[in-house]
Amino acid sequence: MLKLPGLIDPHVHLREPGATHKEDFDSGTSAALAGGFTLVLAMPNTKPPIFDASTLDLALAAAKEKARCDYAQFVGAGPDNADQVAALADKAAALKMYLDKTFGELRLDDMTLWQLHFQKYPKQYPIVAHSESRSMAAAILFAAMYDRPVHIAHISLREEVLLIKAAKERGIKVTCEVCPHHLFLTAPLPPPVLRTPSPIFPENGGGLGGGRGRFEVRPRLAAQKDVDALWANLDVIDCFATDHAPHTLEEKDSEKPPPGFPGLETALPLLLTAVDDGRLTIDDIVLRSVTNPRRIFNLPEQPETWIEVDEKAEYEIKAADQFTRCGWTPFEGWKVKGQVIRVVLRACEAFKDGKVLVPPGYGQNVRAW
Ligand code: DOR
Ligand code: ZN
Repeated sequence: MLKLPGLIDPHVHLREPGATHKEDFDSGTSAALAGGFTLVLAMPNTKPPIFDASTLDLALAAAKEKARCDYAQFVGAGPDNADQVAALADKAAALKMYLDKTFGELRLDDMTLWQLHFQKYPKQYPIVAHSESRSMAAAILFAAMYDRPVHIAHISLREEVLLIKAAKERGIKVTCEVCPHHLFLTAPLPPPVLRTPSPIFPENGGGLGGGRGRFEVRPRLAAQKDVDALWANLDVIDCFATDHAPHTLEEKDSEKPPPGFPGLETALPLLLTAVDDGRLTIDDIVLRSVTNPRRIFNLPEQPETWIEVDEKAEYEIKAADQFTRCGWTPFEGWKVKGQVIRVVLRACEAFKDGKVLVPPGYGQNVRAW
C-alpha cells in the first residue's frame, strides 16, 4: 500500500446553489473522497453565481451543512464587483475570471472591466483565469502589467503551454493547471464514428456512448499534437485539476448539451496508470496535486490527513460505481491500474473500500481556520 498526502483539487464545480440535480456539496465531496481528494476548491458559476457577500454566504452555508471533505469557495469576477470581491478575499479560495465563453453567466468581455479586478484583488491569492489561446495571452499581459499572480485554468493546447513556458522564463507570475481529460483524450473523430481515441492507452479510449453532446467540454478536447505538447512540457504545468463539471446524461444527450465532464473519481487512477506506464512518477503527482496547489492558493496543511492507494490493483472504471450524481463518465470501461483504498481526513477514516464513512458536515472551510 502506498501512502500519499490527501490530494487537493483546485478546480471543481459542485453545482450548489442552483443545480443540485447534477451535484451538491454532499455528492460532490463524496466523489472527491472516493478519488483521493481531501480538499477541493469550488467554482463560482452556480445559480446564482457566487459574486458578493450574500451569495458567498449562501454557498458556504450549504457547504457547511453538507460537505464531507474540506473545501474553499471561489468568488467570481463580475462587471461591477471588484471592491466587493476584494473585501471577501480572505474568506474565498481565490478570484475566478471567465474571459471566454463557457457554462454560466460570469463572463467578462470588456478588458477595461478586468483592470479593476487586477488592481484590487489581494496579491496573496491568485486570479484564476478561464482564458483560452489569445485571451490567455491577454491574461498573461495583465499579470505582467499588474505584477500579480495569475493561474491559468485547464490549459489544453500546444500554443498555450509554450506561451506559459516563455512567460515563466521572463519572470511573469503565471502558473497553470491541466485536466486529465486533456492528457488522456483527443478530439472526437468526425461523425458517424464518434469516438475519441486515447493517445496514451491504445486499448482504452473509444466511444462515450450516446451522442455528440457527451464530448462537449470547454476547453474542447484537442489534437494529438496538443496532447503530445502537454506531456512533453509537464515541467511547465504546476497543477493537475479535474475541472469536475457534472451534467446529467439527459442533459448531455439533449439538443443543447452543456459542456463538462465529471472527473473527481477518475483522475488519480488515470494518473497512477500513467505512472505504471512510465510516463509519470509518484513525485510528479504529489507535486502537482498537493505541494503546488497548496503554495499557489495559499492553503493550510490538513493535519493527520493522508490517502492509501493500491498501485497494483487493476479495475475497470464504471459510472455505476461513482458517487457523483451525474451518472456517467467519459472513461467508462477504461482499464486502470491504481486504486484508492483508504482516506484519512483530520485523523478520521473518511473513506474505505468503496464506502464514504464521514457524514455530511464533516468537511471544513479551510479559509475559516
Ligand atoms: O466544460 C466546462 N464545463 N468548462 C467550463 O469552463 C465550465 C464547466 C461547467 O461548469 O460545466
Ligand atoms: Zn471549470
